[in-house]
Formats: sequence, C-alpha cells, structure tokens
Amino acid sequence: MPQLEAIAIDFQSETYKDAYSRINAIVIEGEQEAYDNYIKLGEMLPEQKENLAGLAKMEMRHKKGFQSCGRNLTVTPDMEFGREFFASLHQNFQDAATQGKVVTCLLIQSLIIECFAIAAYNIYIPVADDFARKITEGVVKDEYLHLNFGEEWLKANFETSKAELEDANRQNLPIIWRMLNQVTDDARVLGMEKEALVEDFMIAYGEALSNIGFSTRDIMRMSAYGLTAA
Ligand SMILES: [Fe+2]
Ligand SMILES: [Fe+2]
Repeated sequence: MPQLEAIAIDFQSETYKDAYSRINAIVIEGEQEAYDNYIKLGEMLPEQKENLAGLAKMEMRHKKGFQSCGRNLTVTPDMEFGREFFASLHQNFQDAATQGKVVTCLLIQSLIIECFAIAAYNIYIPVADDFARKITEGVVKDEYLHLNFGEEWLKANFETSKAELEDANRQNLPIIWRMLNQVTDDARVLGMEKEALVEDFMIAYGEALSNIGFSTRDIMRMSAYGLTAA
C-alpha cells in the first residue's frame, strides 16, 4: 500500500517567515479588534456587559497567544499590514456603533469576524507548527462560544433584527471576500488553500444564520452575497 506523505513545511524558511509576518499580524489585529468590539458591545448592551467583558478578556488572551506564536518563529508581525487589512470592517463597526446599531455590530463581530476566525483557525491547525497548533486549538474553542453569543442574542430578537441583518450582510460580506483574496497567496505559503477557507466560512456562517432563524433560501442568498464579484 502506498503511504500518503504529508508535504513537509519548512517553518524556518525565509518564504514561510515572510508570509507569516503578515498572517500573524492579521490574526493579532483581528483579536485586538474583537477585544475592542466586545468592550463596545458591552456599552451598547448594558444587561450583557459582564458577559461581554468575559468574551473580551478571552480575545486579549488569544492576542497574546498569537504574539507568542510569532516570537516562537522569530517573526516580527507587520502590524501596519494587519491594521490596513481590517480597516473597512473596523470603520463599518465604528459607524454602526456611533448610530447605536447593535444588530449590525453583532453581525460584524459575532457572526462575520468569528466565522472568519473559525474558518482560518480550523484550516490552519493541521498545517501549523506544534507550538502554534496547541495555541490555535485552544483559541478556536472560544471562538465557537463567541459565535454562539451572537446567535443566541439575534435569535431572541430575530423579528426586529431581520431587516437590519440583511442590510448589514449586504454591506459587510463583500468585504470578507476581498479580505480573503488579499490573503490568498500568503495563506497558500502556510499550507492553507483559499477554497478550503471559503468553504469553512460558508458552512460556519450558514449554520449561524440558520440557528438565528433564517430560511434555507435566505441563507443561500445571504451567504454568497458578493462572492462572485470577489
Ligand atoms: Fe479570538
Ligand atoms: Fe472571538
């Protein structure tokens, strides 16, 4: 029987470390965004403030974990690239928060960003170095909890949130496809294929929309929005 051999990844090659400097920055910035967003959501949903402060705390722990992954490979994250990468979603979250649009804020952070993180971390785990794999396995479990928070809140408020969710989806989902395109080449160097990332994102996001109360037809329409233009 021929044996399947995994393609060895050289974690110390200059090519790997160069790509890692951007991917690592994206992840660190993403965790920082998540922290800031949950703190903000706590201000917008005072009855959930403590709960949301707990989620924020996890995000800060994730950020520190991923910073140690970069240090472990002696990679300096390109934080300017990371901030640039999140700029559009960051702006949309800030605008929604200023207008008191809690549903839009929840869609951006608890659905879109969490599903993006879940997809990326799940695809990364099998190709990560041993140190980063252990960290990422711990992190992804927390991200499912965060996604669940958003689902539960939006499910409980589905009828009043539905129109705003559709709107926010239309505005923000195309940004995710753009972000995925921007990161395709670097992700491939790390052993992560774009198709797998898209598929994992669609599954997580579609399941979330279903749990919230959307019909299959709505989900098909919403979860692919902007994909063909990407
Ligand atoms: Fe996180
Ligand atoms: Fe999270």
